[in-house]
Amino acid sequence: MIKVEGLVKSVQDRVILKDLNFTLKQGEIAVILGRSGIGKTVFIKTVAGLLPYEKGIVEVDGMRVNPYNYTDMKIIWSKIGFVFQYGALLDSLSTIENIGFGLKENGFKEKEWKRIAFEKLEAVGLDKSVAGLMPAQLSGGMKKMVSLARALALSPNYLFYDEPTAGLDYSMVVRITSLIGNINKILGIASLIITHDLYLAKKFRENIYFLKDGRLVKPPKKVTLEDFYDE
Ligand SMILES: Nc1ncnc2c1ncn2[C@@H]1O[C@H](COP(=O)(O)OP(=O)(O)O)[C@@H](O)[C@H]1O
Ligand SMILES: [Mg+2]
Repeated sequence: MIKVEGLVKSVQDRVILKDLNFTLKQGEIAVILGRSGIGKTVFIKTVAGLLPYEKGIVEVDGMRVNPYNYTDMKIIWSKIGFVFQYGALLDSLSTIENIGFGLKENGFKEKEWKRIAFEKLEAVGLDKSVAGLMPAQLSGGMKKMVSLARALALSPNYLFYDEPTAGLDYSMVVRITSLIGNINKILGIASLIITHDLYLAKKFRENIYFLKDGRLVKPPKKVTLEDFYDE
């Protein structure tokens, strides 16, 4: 379980997150909606231990997230797969080497990391023929899928998605949205999605929050998401 209590986080003397509370249980999927620049990426990176915070509690399976405690963070990072907004693939590595990168770093032999990497390539619905392509040869949607395959390679308990559908055409938005749902359902990986895409949010509307004024609020049941978004 991920637990956030009373989180306070500033960026350059500006308070971005104020007394924020959030929980994500095993197997759950949560969506956090919010306008551009409101602090969604700051939130997800803080929970993942990629940014420090001033106050409050952030815990993953009972362990305190503290970016300055490398020993603990290594354990926590082994449980969290992060799908970055722009994919964050390594330009000089092929698709399959990108997917297997973390495995290689963790000492997997070539035969083994390649086997797992190909399995994850297939799991995200990409053809074997893209394995040798370089990131520059991939479309925006394919980069996100490779980034997702890489996150899956280390068998995470939690997946964090930062704007998984941003900048994609509609058919790719539909494809990635269904992939996110299937990964959660089939593999039981708890997922936290940060987005400003109402299509994506509506698909997972059982557990949806808005980030507003540094806090998470549940949209009222009677109001449509569009109305709430426009406020
Ligand atoms: N590294 C940084 N340096 C300066 N300001 C930043 C940095 N990262 C984020 N911010 C500021 O913090 C706020 C929240 O950013 P972010 O979390 O990226 O928003 P979102 O993901 O919701 O679009 C923005 O006003 C942004 O300008
Ligand atoms: Mg962002």
